[in-house]
Amino acid sequence: MSKKILNISYECAHPSCWVFCKKGVLKLEEPEFKALSSANGGGKGTFKSPPGACRLGFSQTFKVTGIENVEERGGDEGWAEEAAAEGNNPLLDLVEEHKEVLKKLDAIESQVRKRDVEGLWVTTASVENDIILHSIKKEEEVLFPIVEKKIPMGEALVGIMKEDHREFIAILQGFRCGLQDGDILDGLVTTLIVNLRNHISKEDEEFLPMIDAHLDREEKDRVFEAMKKIEKEHVRLTPGDREKKGLSPLSEDRRRMDAEIMALKSITSKGGEACCH
Ligand SMILES: [Fe+2]
Ligand SMILES: [Fe+2]
Repeated sequence: MSKKILNISYECAHPSCWVFCKKGVLKLEEPEFKALSSANGGGKGTFKSPPGACRLGFSQTFKVTGIENVEERGGDEGWAEEAAAEGNNPLLDLVEEHKEVLKKLDAIESQVRKRDVEGLWVTTASVENDIILHSIKKEEEVLFPIVEKKIPMGEALVGIMKEDHREFIAILQGFRCGLQDGDILDGLVTTLIVNLRNHISKEDEEFLPMIDAHLDREEKDRVFEAMKKIEKEHVRLTPGDREKKGLSPLSEDRRRMDAEIMALKSITSKGGEACCH
């Protein structure tokens, strides 16, 4: 089954938009683009920004400034349908788990809009748990060693994926430190959402279908069993009581940085002390 992909150049129509997503190019499937256009009232030449496109997390009207590079490409549904027909497939299980993570990212986006610190505390702990179980234990411990052995350029691909995983954990932990201090760090959470969505689509559309094509039945069974065992033995990460935890270890760093900024303002201002009013 093939899908029509559109490269859409856009400009944010919000009059006071100043961030660097104001102009850009989005790669969208044609049905998704049509749905976003009609969600915006079918206004000619405009569409509703897809989740994650506005870096401030809002749903904006984007004005189309060009549609280019219309291309056809094989969809991952074709791979998934064939793979499902052959029995237990650990790679398809990973695709299903990605769908659950994508739902949680949508929930995080809406909690950020509502400034729901407690909700974010719970949802981000659940995503952190998923990253440890899915990415670190199932992918890195079970799947990647076999990828390094069986796939040309496997080591390089695994290196890229592992780097992504570490970045997610670092961002998540930083964001959760902010929550612990009662702050929602918008820049961090937006980066996390965009990067995690990109990582998942890279795995679903390119990485997992390629691995599927290189593994035989016996190898897939082995990976499937090992992943099930890991899942059974996994002790779920719980969010803990946010308020009882007190201030995060980063709160002191932030206070120190604020003091340094004040000092730099002072020494770079003519007439000594910079005015803080
Ligand atoms: Fe994954
Ligand atoms: Fe991954």
